[in-house]
Amino acid sequence: MANKSKFQAIRGTRDLLPPDTTLWNRVEQTAHEVFTTYGFGEIRPPVIEPTELFARAVGGDTDIVSKEMYTFESHGFLELEQVRAALIQRSFKIDDVLMFSGFEQQTLDYVTKLREKFDKVEVPRTPENEQLFQSIPDLFKWMHDFSRKYFETESDLYAEKFSEYLTAVKVALRSFRLGDVLTLRPEATASVCRAYIEHNMQQLPQPVKLYYLGPMFRRERPQKGRYRQFYQIGAEILGGPDAPAIDAELIEMLMTFFDKCGLQGTELSINSIGHAADNCRRGYVAKLREELLKVKDKLGADSQRRIETNPLRVLDSKLEHEQPIIAALPRIADHLCDECKTHYAAVKKDLDLRGVKYRENWRLVRGLDYYMRTTFEITAQGLGSQNAVCGGGRYDGLVELLGGPPTKGIGFAIGEDRLILSLQDAKSQSPVASRQSPSVFIAWMGGRAYATAIRAAKTLRNAGFRVELPATELKFGKALERASKLGSHFALILGDNEIQSGEWTLKNLANAEQQKLTEQALLEYLLKL
Ligand code: HAM
Repeated sequence: MANKSKFQAIRGTRDLLPPDTTLWNRVEQTAHEVFTTYGFGEIRPPVIEPTELFARAVGGDTDIVSKEMYTFESHGFLELEQVRAALIQRSFKIDDVLMFSGFEQQTLDYVTKLREKFDKVEVPRTPENEQLFQSIPDLFKWMHDFSRKYFETESDLYAEKFSEYLTAVKVALRSFRLGDVLTLRPEATASVCRAYIEHNMQQLPQPVKLYYLGPMFRRERPQKGRYRQFYQIGAEILGGPDAPAIDAELIEMLMTFFDKCGLQGTELSINSIGHAADNCRRGYVAKLREELLKVKDKLGADSQRRIETNPLRVLDSKLEHEQPIIAALPRIADHLCDECKTHYAAVKKDLDLRGVKYRENWRLVRGLDYYMRTTFEITAQGLGSQNAVCGGGRYDGLVELLGGPPTKGIGFAIGEDRLILSLQDAKSQSPVASRQSPSVFIAWMGGRAYATAIRAAKTLRNAGFRVELPATELKFGKALERASKLGSHFALILGDNEIQSGEWTLKNLANAEQQKLTEQALLEYLLKL
């Protein structure tokens, strides 16, 4: 019997459905319109990229790279993968000579097959892969040696060594790369920088201004406003001069977009985290670590760990008992070098000139490694604990880190899921959420009325109205009932009378008022609404 188990969207992912998708489309349309007025063009990078791109750009110690990426090896060698899995699962003791010899034979046969593929460049010719051809025979030599000594002395020491080396063989087999290691993108800044380099965009007039919309993937613990597949609307400015006006204009564009969407209760926080030099951020981080070590035993486990890995991230902590301790820590603004200090002051002055309101937050350090100087975040209402609706900042040097020329960069990404949640929370006040063109349900009866209904539907749809034309004849009562269920604004009633007189009946479903109109007058009336 067929397995009838129900399929469901996997944890942390979800279907976006009508009518919500209407709002999603409007928000995206608003992004296209606003960003175009600021001279941005759309880029659509792929959703999969080499894992190494994100590891290098976002940083190996970040939460994103160390635990949240969906990574897989991409190759077509199903059989090699199966043989490898079977070998790795094999388990035996030192005195099981037959098992050992079978395992060795099969492993060496497998390695020979890998060698053939390696020579024909069908698997990656990396130094790590090449090493396997030497390391596996070496490991077996040692295992034979331990086995011989074990049978001579019966010492458990050799049995332990034997099983240690068996594990080493398995680890070597597992680490051999059969194909490229790929990742579903957790963010798109790295992809945009990769594309900038790949397409020689430094030869275009600078700066290059790009925006993108699309899904991102992070294996986070799902909750309201936090998903494993989520959507971002982002923009990046690459190249160009060292001008604080670039930072300010980008932020102005972002706030204009939120304003056009009708997002309520937005708060923009800004900060400068300086640049990686001893007389700037590096010096500050050393000082911060020193101060944190003094209060280490009062901090939680996460913060204690971060004192070593990334002391700046301690400032992100939301733990209540850590707040007074953090409030007393040294602040980065007092440790910025002169250039970064001047840059930060100029960004703030330019924001003032543009009438953009902001709040300074010295604890805003952001969770990705590529940032320097300006960082910013925007929160909005109705989102609970996941209230950051956008994050961004400057990342001069990232393009260079990825193999391109020295290039300045700044950008942001809006969490579209959160933006939508917040707009839905404040529906009545949002022009984007409430804007809707009138919808018309055509209630027809009779063959002649049907032909007229088809024509009317075409005309109204051409004029941009949403039209429902029932595929089968319905009694007028039933038709009106269906129209209200669908939430149509009007019912256009076409029966024998209307066809004969040429005067159509239009019923307003909100107040039940009816009027008779010619085809032309009907169109004019609806267009005026
Ligand atoms: P981010 O702060 O990691 O920055 O993400 C930006 C925004 O994406 C967040 O503020 C949030 O609204 C949304 N977001 C992040 N993770 C999730 C999730 N699991 N579920 C729902 N929404 C989420 C970046 O991604 C940078 N690439 C931004 C940037 C662009 N910086 C410079 N250019």
